[in-house]
Amino acid sequence: MCAWDWQAGKNAVVCGPMEIIIQENAERAARMTAKLIADAVREKPTLVLGLATGGTMEKVYEFLAEFHAKDSLDFSRVVTFNLDEYVGLPAEDPRSYRYYMEEHLFRHVNIKPENTHLPDGTASDLKSECQRYEELIKSSGGVDLQLLGVGRSGHIGFNEPLSALRSRTRATTLSPVTIEQNQIYFGESAMPSRAITVGVGTILESRRCLMLALGKQKAAVVAKALEGPISSMISASALQLHPHCTVIVDEEAAADLKEKEYYRLIFKTEPDWEAYR
Ligand code: F6R
Repeated sequence: MCAWDWQAGKNAVVCGPMEIIIQENAERAARMTAKLIADAVREKPTLVLGLATGGTMEKVYEFLAEFHAKDSLDFSRVVTFNLDEYVGLPAEDPRSYRYYMEEHLFRHVNIKPENTHLPDGTASDLKSECQRYEELIKSSGGVDLQLLGVGRSGHIGFNEPLSALRSRTRATTLSPVTIEQNQIYFGESAMPSRAITVGVGTILESRRCLMLALGKQKAAVVAKALEGPISSMISASALQLHPHCTVIVDEEAAADLKEKEYYRLIFKTEPDWEAYR
């Protein structure tokens, strides 16, 4: 594990490989993800935290809310940037990602509303909105820790197949696989076919990436992303280029990984992981 020095803003040692951690179930995987975030907030109270939405993150946010309530985890100086938002959905729409964030995290912790950022999917000029978002991330000092899920299409954020590895924040068309994945949140009504997403290049500029994948439906894409070739067809594979990326998976999502035993051995052996075992 390569230790990140949050204060100095650099890696304390030259980074090693991607860190892949297999937890026995979804609950433990989500708890460890939340613990890593909580530790980063304690080390740097002004942390710039990149956030993701979706089913995978619900438990992570539940744990963060619990750490706030029981262990006084302080979000008062934390600044957040979400990865994406649907085009056309206002904040009051229960299916918007702004609404999701309020429901699952923001209203449960002491974060300042003005410190929480999501792209505005209702902006009349989407190009300027994307540029504004990129600039805001930059002027806030850049993302320290980026939380990520992975879609069945291989996306991180909404960087669907073909997203350039250096892509920036933009409005994009969702793939059929993603529409099938997320239609459940829209019931009978058609879901938006476009979304604003930060780019793969933007994500790779975060100082640390933390990806969580759960369940057997993610097993194939996790194996492609972590052990397959780096390709714009699987945006999550771009994380192999990141100098400090930690991936937490449960047993089901790890099912198709070839080198599982080696990843387990690393986690069991590396002294830096002791507090998380
Ligand atoms: C959403 C996001 C997406 C999701 C991914 C997994 O903000 O960034 O990349 O993380 O679609 O979604 P779930 O967790 O619902 O399987």
